[in-house]
Amino acid sequence: MEKIIILDFGSQYTHLIARRIRELKVYSEILPFDTPLEKITDGDVKGVILSGGPDSVYRPTAPKLKKEVEEWLLKGEIPVLGICYGHQLLAYLLGGRVERGKKGEYGRADIEIVEKNELFKGLPARQVVWMSHGDWVSKVPPKAEILARSGEIIVAFRLDKFYGVQFHPEVRHTQYGRAILNNFLFEICKCSGSWKMGDIVEKIIEDIKQEAPTGNVLMAASGGVDSTTSACLIKMALGPERIHLVVIDTGFLRKEEAEKAVKMYRKLGFKHVHLIDARKEFLSALKGVVDPEEKRRIISQLYFKILDEKASKLAEKYGEFKYLGQGTIYPDRVESGVTGRKTARIKTHHNVVYAHLSKLVKLEPLKDLYKDEVRKLAKLIGIPEEVVYRHPFPGPGLAIRVLGEVSEKKLEILRKVDRIVEEELRKAGLYRNLWQAFPVLLPVKTVGVMGDERTYKYAIAIRAVVSEDAMTAEFAKLPWSLLEKIGSRIVNEVREVNRVLYDITNKPPATIEFE
Ligand code: XMP
Repeated sequence: MEKIIILDFGSQYTHLIARRIRELKVYSEILPFDTPLEKITDGDVKGVILSGGPDSVYRPTAPKLKKEVEEWLLKGEIPVLGICYGHQLLAYLLGGRVERGKKGEYGRADIEIVEKNELFKGLPARQVVWMSHGDWVSKVPPKAEILARSGEIIVAFRLDKFYGVQFHPEVRHTQYGRAILNNFLFEICKCSGSWKMGDIVEKIIEDIKQEAPTGNVLMAASGGVDSTTSACLIKMALGPERIHLVVIDTGFLRKEEAEKAVKMYRKLGFKHVHLIDARKEFLSALKGVVDPEEKRRIISQLYFKILDEKASKLAEKYGEFKYLGQGTIYPDRVESGVTGRKTARIKTHHNVVYAHLSKLVKLEPLKDLYKDEVRKLAKLIGIPEEVVYRHPFPGPGLAIRVLGEVSEKKLEILRKVDRIVEEELRKAGLYRNLWQAFPVLLPVKTVGVMGDERTYKYAIAIRAVVSEDAMTAEFAKLPWSLLEKIGSRIVNEVREVNRVLYDITNKPPATIEFE
């Protein structure tokens, strides 16, 4: 199978390169920068991309390719595209000069194509790109041609099959980024572009078979698209006998969600589906707890404990479990700080944490995919549409949408409001356009007037966002008339609430969830 190898030097955008290449229907693999040659050359490699990274090539500690890989690349038999740090490394290896820029170039920059070339084929001479680096190539390698400049700065060069760009074509802010990658794949590497979502499914199934040749898989599933798709892929790979699904009703789910999930899994052909009603335990574990991270920690630990207990009971009957199936997708790993990136831990994500505590071997079939890719895959393998397009729902559930201390009464209020919000969005045909939309029960009461009576009741905040991957998000500009309808239905139908607010902050600086 034809493929593009991406050697990762630690940029926060490396995964986006892989994603863009997938969108262009070419298979790609991300490997660490110091991967040995035999692993890199395994298969039909059409081209290599050297990613960006935070370092400076002239520093002794800077990440370098293995000697044998460097020699292989420099033979020039295969096209190489260096991006940002990769561009500088390539220039340096080919005899050019890299220096610290007088001022770093970060963010938007205007560039001009000064030499016609396949990399920029069909594109206008002036374009806007996205930069993020302090170094630049001050002298291109001997015999290389400069392809583009930004003022005085060299931003692209070429020498035979070696191409370097200082900017990030994989980032959306680069106006013609997709076209540049397209040119690299098809004009330069001569890829065929025949890779499809179905091939991803096949590859994932093949990988699962190899990772789990024998032994049973335990998986906690919630009925959401990520866990359901992961479970289905594992079932497709290993058969229905080897996977046990456990649905834990924490009490923080939406109305009748746990039962619905169990029904659906049975319908999808899962043989072992176990429902655990742990609503009381979770609620009492959170008594008096107000701090969001404390809530997450308690929920996560209890969840793991319950799962663990269930695993040992099931093991008596079916034999020990060897693997833990997980619905983790790529953005989950970035946000929890478990990718190569040194991202600050903003929130402890439930599903990643308990896998860490577990001694079982993780099976995470979706770990490299973005949400929209998971949805496409889910649809392809026959998961019901209702699940495919359901909004993401956090592991700790409504417990982090009831701000402050959680109680059954507050959960009940929130469930009623939640149903109204979802109903109205669906009626307006806007549900699928949004990444998420949900109400949050604020820990304050406010004064209102109903009939001629003074009221003193809860306030609700509505959060609705559009986003591509939840790493950034914008608040949704919902029509006033819809907001008015939602607001008035809530205060009329849920008697414990007398005020509804709309959240108008983006992420960053706010996060999507309130806790
Ligand atoms: P934030 O609030 O960090 O959320 O902007 C980003 C996305 O992640 C979801 N989220 C979670 N998902 N376990 C999950 O599985 C969690 O603990 C968790 N916390 C937040 C959130 O709903 C949004 O889609």
